[in-house]
Amino acid sequence: MTDHSTRKRRIVVLISGGGSNLQSFIDACADGTLNADVVAVISNKAGVKGLERAANVGIPNIILDHNSFESRAEFDQSLGDVIESFSPDLIILAGFMRILTPQFVNRFIGQLMNIHPSLLPKYPGLHTHQRAIDAGDSEAGATVHFVTAELDGGPAIVQAQVPVLKNDSADALATRVLEFEHQIYPLAAEWFCQGRIELRDGDVLFDNQLLPVEGVNIEIHEKT
Ligand code: GAR
Repeated sequence: MTDHSTRKRRIVVLISGGGSNLQSFIDACADGTLNADVVAVISNKAGVKGLERAANVGIPNIILDHNSFESRAEFDQSLGDVIESFSPDLIILAGFMRILTPQFVNRFIGQLMNIHPSLLPKYPGLHTHQRAIDAGDSEAGATVHFVTAELDGGPAIVQAQVPVLKNDSADALATRVLEFEHQIYPLAAEWFCQGRIELRDGDVLFDNQLLPVEGVNIEIHEKT
């Protein structure tokens, strides 16, 4: 049942690394642009900066090392159980570099979002910026999408286009794209929290209208 109340939504964030997208959620919750709380951060890797970011603001942060599980299925079962213990409305994959089983995805279908640093369906997987440069693309970017069982393949909610500059390196492009990621991801989450977007039968509805494949088209400006 759709919940249109204005209560603060509960968000669990999954990370594997630096957590700059996590930080954008922490900041958006703090300044009220996102009507939610990050109630837990879970990392499959120990010692990453994202865990520190969570600890700095008193958010429970949990390490669930996939290496200590016999199989992907067992890891995903435990991950799902930990997530569920926080009763989240929304689960955010923020640089979480693990392939999830269909069982996990289906357990949380419609509540799972990911950000990927390319203009999906272009360049699922790794090395997206280098691939965009090598292909001579004039635009790169990032996509927020609902997660389905297909890797980096769920339907788009919003994309940010970022120009590829002459002589761009993959690192320089990645840094510029990240700035945009930090804007579109909390925004997509806020739409979710407001009950404006939902995954229905594999499509994304925004205010009950079917979104085009590239998701919402909004103009985002680079922060100066
Ligand atoms: C981000 O660029 C995110 O889009 C990417 O990992 C980076 C994590 O950065 N995610 C993927 O490639 C998922 N397929 P962060 O840890 O600083 O948020």
